[in-house]
This record gives sequence, structure tokens and C-alpha cells, in this order.
Amino acid sequence: MSKNNEIKLNNEIARYQRTIATQKRTIATQKRTIAAQKRTIAAQKERMAIEKKKVIEISEVVERTSILLSRVIELRDPYTKGHSEHVAEIVVNFVNLNSPLNFSKEKIPVIYRAALLHDIGKIGITEQVLNKPTKLTEAEFIMIKYHPILGYNLIKPLLFDELIRDAILYHHENFDGSGYPQGLKGDNIPLIARIFRIADYYDALTSSRPYREALKPDEALRIMKEQSNCFDPELFSFFIENIRYLTRRST
Ligand SMILES: [Fe+2]
Repeated sequence: MSKNNEIKLNNEIARYQRTIATQKRTIATQKRTIAAQKRTIAAQKERMAIEKKKVIEISEVVERTSILLSRVIELRDPYTKGHSEHVAEIVVNFVNLNSPLNFSKEKIPVIYRAALLHDIGKIGITEQVLNKPTKLTEAEFIMIKYHPILGYNLIKPLLFDELIRDAILYHHENFDGSGYPQGLKGDNIPLIARIFRIADYYDALTSSRPYREALKPDEALRIMKEQSNCFDPELFSFFIENIRYLTRRST
């Protein structure tokens, strides 16, 4: 090999060696970057696990608080003992069975909680009015009609899900606009409240009250059909067709 060619070859080798060294440094930098990213992801995963645990703990506390609050209402109004749980049973079965309503799985515990709390505003109504065995006066009825607003104002600071707020505030709205507190009509009433209206009505009729014995399911349904102006027609048809799957108090 000539002297010139030897110099060229050596230069070429030196250039390759520099390129390889540069690539090695790049790869080392990339490895460090990947390792740093892995550490960041691991830290994020850890934070998410902690957050998830906190959410679960908070949900459990909210759940137990909801049950406690519903028990408090029942203490003041023994005639509605079990009412919140019965309504919960109906509405949860209703949304589970009526798939076109398209409530997500995550909303089921929220709906259950809404049922436990829907009459929370009764805490603000006197026991004399709640447990009165005779017909209510106009003034007393106005007090009763105030319980959805009282309940809504009570739970508002807790920033509960909108479903819970709607169920509490609107569960006495009638489909034809004759309900309370706002006299909303038709689809202006939130869907969840239209379902609650049916479940609440049915359970009220099939429960003992200060002024009457519990009605048999057939009799309750007959009365509800007479009062069908209160209910969303499609939801009410579904309720009638599927009542045996919605509540144990249907036979
Ligand atoms: Fe109510």
C-alpha cells in the first residue's frame, strides 16, 4: 500500500471511530432519557394509585354518610322507614334493565346514593306535619312542597354529582307541569327525576302512611294509571311492563 493510501485509510478509520463514539454517546444519552422517563411514569403511577385509593376512601365515606342521612330522615318520619332503600332498588333496577337510557356503569352507585338522599329535605319539615294522620292544611302542604328545595340547598355545598342534585330537586315534578317545586314540564324535567317520580310514587302507595294502610301493588298501579299525567309515558309503560323485575314489592 502506498504511503498516501495508508494515510487515507487511517483517516477513514479515525472518522469511523469518531462516528461510533458519537453514536455511543447519543445512545447513552437516550438510555438516560428513557430511564428518567421510566422513573417519571413510575412516580405518576404511584401518585395515581394514591389518588385512586383516596377516591375510593372518599366514596366509601360519602356512601356511609348517605346511608346515615337517609336513616336520620327515617327517624323523623318513621312511616317512610325503608322508603329510600325501596326507591333505590326500583331506580337502580330500572336503569340497569332499560338499556336504551344508556346510563354508564359508573353512574349506578351515584343513582343509588341519589335515592338514599332524595327526601333529605324532609329534615327541615316539622314532625307534626310529616306524621300528621289527617289531611294537611294548605299551609302544611306548602311546607311539604318545600322539601326538594331544602334538600337541594343542603347537599349543594357537597358538590355531589348532577344526577343527585336533579333527583333531589325535581323528584316531585309532574310530566304535565303540575308538580313542584318549579312546575317543569315534559323533557324539561331531567330524565333521572322522571324515573324517580315513578319509583317514589309507587313506593309511597305501597307503603303504610299515617293516614292509610299500604296499598296492594295492583291497586297502586291502578291509581298510578289514573294519575298518568304525572309520569313520562314511555318510562311509565316500561315500568308497568317490567314491574316484577324492578321491585320485590310487586306481587
Ligand atoms: Fe319527596
